[in-house]
Amino acid sequence: MAIVCRPARMDDLKRADEIVVASINDFTEGHGFGKMAASRPPNLQAFSLTDDPDGLWVADDEGEIVGFAWSWICDELWFLAQLFVAPDRQSGGIGNQLISKTFAHADKRGASIKALITFAFNNVSQGLYIRHGLFPRFPIYMVSAPRERLAPSSAEPRLRLESLAAMTADFGELACVDLSALGVSRQKHHQYLLGDSTTNGFTIHAGSECVGYVYISDGHIGPLAVRRPDLVGSALAAALSFAARSECPTISAFVPGASEPALRVATEHGMRLTFPMLLMSNRQFGDWVSYLPRNPGFM
Ligand SMILES: CC(C)(COP(=O)(O)OP(=O)(O)OC[C@H]1O[C@@H](n2cnc3c(N)ncnc32)[C@H](O)[C@@H]1OP(=O)(O)O)[C@@H](O)C(=O)NCCC(=O)NCCS
Repeated sequence: MAIVCRPARMDDLKRADEIVVASINDFTEGHGFGKMAASRPPNLQAFSLTDDPDGLWVADDEGEIVGFAWSWICDELWFLAQLFVAPDRQSGGIGNQLISKTFAHADKRGASIKALITFAFNNVSQGLYIRHGLFPRFPIYMVSAPRERLAPSSAEPRLRLESLAAMTADFGELACVDLSALGVSRQKHHQYLLGDSTTNGFTIHAGSECVGYVYISDGHIGPLAVRRPDLVGSALAAALSFAARSECPTISAFVPGASEPALRVATEHGMRLTFPMLLMSNRQFGDWVSYLPRNPGFM
């Protein structure tokens, strides 16, 4: 019987995550980067499924899940958070079938910007996306350093962090920052992050002015957004200074190649490039000097 692409259900998400992890590790090990992914509870997937069920699809082969696609939409922006096919089922047209389903999600909702983050060294995924009208824009580097080796800032951070909590957060302020950095509001994603007990959220302040926000989770910095490009270096320095005071063994971030000040600050702190990825989109959008994504799925 032919493979059927059908809407994902809540009870598919655990198996879908297993396929994603197996597919990532098969691919990254094959390219000499070792295993990059580990299974985690699919909380953001479950949040997205409840928020907008049209964005999650599985490829089902007589009850066996062999592929998974997940997209989310904020205003004009459709973002492909995951597209993965089981390693032993790749190059058989399943990716193409899933991408058609998830593109229908963008069309149905009239989202005019389509974007995703993929591996910078995957010819298959890039070829597939180019054929579907999404083109490479710039690299995004995973950067990291052991906490004890993180070089201290040469100057005191100019900006300070203030803790954000779901109950007291000014979502209007956060939406303004996102509108300046990305051109869309991500209020639902702030609600998700602020409800996640493993993540700490902060607003970033210059004197009395709120100039941005950052989330830090288990030593990983991101998303980080600021209102103006000239603030991003100091904002990352402030976040690194906070993370350096934690007990986490490794400090990491996800820095766009387009953000020269952020890359400079990461490098000055002794962070190494660990993993190159690539932003692809159907057109230019956002100010990627001022925005550091969280990971390839959340953006
Ligand atoms: C990327 C992935 C989802 C694609 O799914 P798939 O089922 O293997 O892909 P399909 O067989 O449907 O199509 C692959 C397309 O890539 C194209 N392609 C393959 N190699 C290519 C190359 N070197 N250059 C350009 N295009 C290429 C093929 O032409 C093919 O399309 P066509 O056969 O219709 O011409 C899957 O291979 C995968 O999970 N890879 C590992 C993880 C990954 O990188 N996922 C993407 C994360 S964003």
